Amino acid sequence: MFDLPMVVTQALANRQDLFMALIDRAGRLLWANQTFASYSKLSIEELLGQKFFHILSPNSQNLPQQTYIREQLIKGESFKFEFAYHRDDHSTQSWLLMDGQPIRNSEVIISQYSLLATDITLRKQAEVDLKEAKSLSEQINQELEVRVQERTSALIQEKEKAEQALKQLQQMQMQLIQTEKMSALGNLVSGVAHEINNPVGFLAGNLQPARDYVQDLFSLIDLYQDKYSTFDPDIYAKIETIDLEYLREDLPKLISSMKEGVNRLQDISTSLRIFSRTDSDRPISFNIHEGLDSTLLILKHRLKANEIRPEIEVVKDYGDLPLIECYAGQLNQVFMNLLANAIDALEESNQKQGWSFEDIKANPNQIGVRTKLSEDQQQVLIHISDNGPGMMPDVKECIFEHSFTTKAVGKGTGLGLAIARQIIVEKHGGNLYCCSEPGEGAEFIIELPIG
Ligand SMILES: Nc1ncnc2c1ncn2[C@@H]1O[C@H](COP(=O)(O)OP(=O)(O)OP(=O)(O)O)[C@@H](O)[C@H]1O
Ligand SMILES: [Mg+2]
Repeated sequence: MFDLPMVVTQALANRQDLFMALIDRAGRLLWANQTFASYSKLSIEELLGQKFFHILSPNSQNLPQQTYIREQLIKGESFKFEFAYHRDDHSTQSWLLMDGQPIRNSEVIISQYSLLATDITLRKQAEVDLKEAKSLSEQINQELEVRVQERTSALIQEKEKAEQALKQLQQMQMQLIQTEKMSALGNLVSGVAHEINNPVGFLAGNLQPARDYVQDLFSLIDLYQDKYSTFDPDIYAKIETIDLEYLREDLPKLISSMKEGVNRLQDISTSLRIFSRTDSDRPISFNIHEGLDSTLLILKHRLKANEIRPEIEVVKDYGDLPLIECYAGQLNQVFMNLLANAIDALEESNQKQGWSFEDIKANPNQIGVRTKLSEDQQQVLIHISDNGPGMMPDVKECIFEHSFTTKAVGKGTGLGLAIARQIIVEKHGGNLYCCSEPGEGAEFIIELPIG
């Protein structure tokens, strides 16, 4: 070990960036360089004898590390602490690493400490910058995450909206097709009704005069027979041939039954016109029973007996209903869908159960059409039921969904009930629901507000 040459020590002591001092074990300054003195704004002479940590501490507060320094000094051990201060211009904060090393006179006796401080501002600044950068990057990450999440959920929402819109469009398209079919059927029916109306009216109007004319002719024959009673074999032979007696009796009956037929034709023509009522864009007063009857008439060909089953019985139970304000054509469309479904269900179960004509005759296929007023007289209730196979709960849950069908491809589109519910609920403010158990048939109930 050799001492530093005096010039080196001098050169070090003169460096403006180095704080150098010598203290005793109580922390009192024994010597300090100019840099130390400049920091404290005291002269070197004034500094001597003062505790160094009082000099360092700003505004005469205790240094945070004071207790630690004291303990080290008492124990005779070295100490190190970091220390922040403001330079003269007060602009930037600087950092010093203060290093106190005991100076031993001999192996055991320590009477002095050297104090040397090096500037660690750059390192500190780097640490602070790093910390700031880290927290900034964390912040950015968090923000990015939030934005990505927001954007993702916005995109998901948009996708869902687009899917919803597409679904609605498809539904609308299918609905339009159905409505168009119904209106095409309506137009056809109303055309037929119109065309048969004229000849039927002509027949109805002429039957009574024809009957009167026949009566007149008979009375004329009577008169001839009275006035010209001489026997003429030719006339007699003709009377025998045409069986005048029978003809006289039968002709009025024949005309009556023609009249009945014509009446029936007139009824059918009226029903057809009721069914095909082209829908106005505002509700009209409508007789529900006429609507039901005309729809049943349109479906007559499907109810009729055929080679595999007898006629489907329609059991009507009509209550006393007022006219109701509604979209008549659309209500007929609902009746049509419900009745067609009931017929489909009955036919399907006949086939599935393998019932013969005779089996079905003994246990007839039936459709019930029942109407009544609700207890509070505010609603019309229409029940359309069948004694078909009924529905399993999982089917019943879906029947009002668009495109839900259990029928074979090409047989059902799965739109009937969805459209029916839309017409009843959305167009008329009513309700449509179904009661059904497997093997117990099905009943659809329409609730329609009056007026
Ligand atoms: N009376 C009923 N008895 C048993 N099941 C029925 C009855 N009515 C409807 N369903 C069931 O509800 C399903 C949906 O009926 P919906 O009328 O909506 O469609 P669809 O009859 O299958 O087809 P579409 O009416 O479009 O031709 C039917 O496929 C059937 O499974
Ligand atoms: Mg249907």
